[in-house]
Amino acid sequence: MSERSANDERIIAVLRDVMDPELHDNIVDLGMVRSAYLEDRTAHVMIALTTAGCPLRATIKRDCESRVSSLSGIDNVQLHWDELTPEERSRAMERARSHARTSAAPTQIPARTRVISVASGKGGVGKSSVTVNLASAFASQGFIVGILDADIWGFSVPRMLGVDSRLGARPANSGEEKGKIIPVERREGNGLIKLVSTGLMVDTEETALMWRGLMLAKALEQFLHDVDWGELDYLLIDMPPGTGDVQMALARLLPQAQMLVITTPALNAQKVAVRVADMARRSHMPVLGVIENMSAFVTPDGKSWALFGEGGGQRLAEEINVPLLGSIPLEPAVSSGGDNGRPVALDGGPAGEAFQNIASQIVNEIFPPVNMEECSASSMAEVSVTLRSD
Ligand SMILES: Nc1ncnc2c1ncn2[C@@H]1O[C@H](COP(=O)(O)OP(=O)(O)O)[C@@H](O)[C@H]1O
Ligand SMILES: [Mg+2]
Repeated sequence: MSERSANDERIIAVLRDVMDPELHDNIVDLGMVRSAYLEDRTAHVMIALTTAGCPLRATIKRDCESRVSSLSGIDNVQLHWDELTPEERSRAMERARSHARTSAAPTQIPARTRVISVASGKGGVGKSSVTVNLASAFASQGFIVGILDADIWGFSVPRMLGVDSRLGARPANSGEEKGKIIPVERREGNGLIKLVSTGLMVDTEETALMWRGLMLAKALEQFLHDVDWGELDYLLIDMPPGTGDVQMALARLLPQAQMLVITTPALNAQKVAVRVADMARRSHMPVLGVIENMSAFVTPDGKSWALFGEGGGQRLAEEINVPLLGSIPLEPAVSSGGDNGRPVALDGGPAGEAFQNIASQIVNEIFPPVNMEECSASSMAEVSVTLRSD
C-alpha cells in the first residue's frame, strides 16, 4: 500500500498564491481546490474550475505546478480537473465580490499581469540591462510592459531606456484620498513600455508629499499602490543588489510574482545566486529560470573569448532545477546601448537576438501572458455582471 496523506497544509499554503485571473482572488479561498495530498512523493491536486472549457486553465495549471513543485519532498505534480457546481460557483463569485470590497489597499497591478522579479545575489551582473532589454523585446512583440525600477537609490533604468521626462501625477478623483502617479510611457512597435523609477521623480509639492519618508521596502509598496499602471501584460521588477527586505516585501505584495535569476558565467557569482534562489523558495516565489549574462564574446571569425569564465549559468540552472533560458554574450553594444538609451534587443546582433529569444521563450512557454479575451465570452460577461452587482 502506498502512503497517501490527508490534505497537505504545505501544498494548500502555496496554492494560496495562485490567483484566478478572472475572479482576482486565490483558488483556495475561492473554494476551487477540492483536494491536495501527497502520495509517493507525487502531489495530487484536484481543482474545480468555474467552467471546464476556459483557457485560463492552462494559466492556473502552470501556476499550480510551479508553486507546488517548489516544495521539498515532491517529485511530481499531478493535476486533476473538475467543474464547480452552480452553487459552488455562486459562492465563489460572492467570495470574489466581498474580497474586491474588503481587501486592504490592493495594488494597482491587474490580477492577470505576469510579474517577473529580475534578481541576483549581487550588483553589476546585468539585472538592469536584462530588465530593460527583455522589456523592449516584449514590447517589440506587441505587449504592454511595465518596468518597476526597485533599485531606489541606484536606479539606472531611465538612462538605459533614454527616458528623461518626469513622472506625472494625476490629481485625486472624488472618493480617492490622494492622486496617482502616472508612469512615463515609451512606444515600441505595437507595444508599450511604462516606466516608474525614482530617477524620474520631480520635486513638486505634490510628488514630494507622495514620496516623503521613502524607505526601500516602503518605496516598493508605494510604487505598487500609488501608481496608476493601467493595463499590463508583463511587469518586470528590476531588483536592487542584495536581497532580503525588498524581495520579501514583493512576495507579500504581489504573491503572483515569479523570479528570474541573473548570473555571470563565473562560479562565485553562481554561489551568490544560489542564495537568491533559496530565498525565492522560502518566500514561495518560483524561479522561472536562469539567464547567464556576460557569456563568451564570439568574434566574427568565430573565436570565443570567455572573459568571465564559462558554465556558471548551466551549473546554477541544474543545481536549482530550473531551465537556463539563455546566455547573453559580453558585447560592447549591450553597454553602449545602455548608455545611449537604445536597448540592444531592438537592434539585432548576437546579444540582441539572445534577448529576443529569451523573451519569446517566456511568452510562448515559460510564462505566457494571460489572454482574457480568449476566455469564453459568456463566462466573462457573467463574471463582470456579478462583480458589478454590489
Ligand atoms: N552582456 C553585456 N555585455 C557588455 N556589457 C554588459 C553586459 N551586461 C551588462 N553590461 C554592463 O555591465 C554593467 C553592469 O550592468 P547592470 O545591468 O547595470 O547590472 P546590475 O543592474 O546587475 O547592477 C553596465 O555598465 C552594463 O552596461
Ligand atoms: Mg541595476
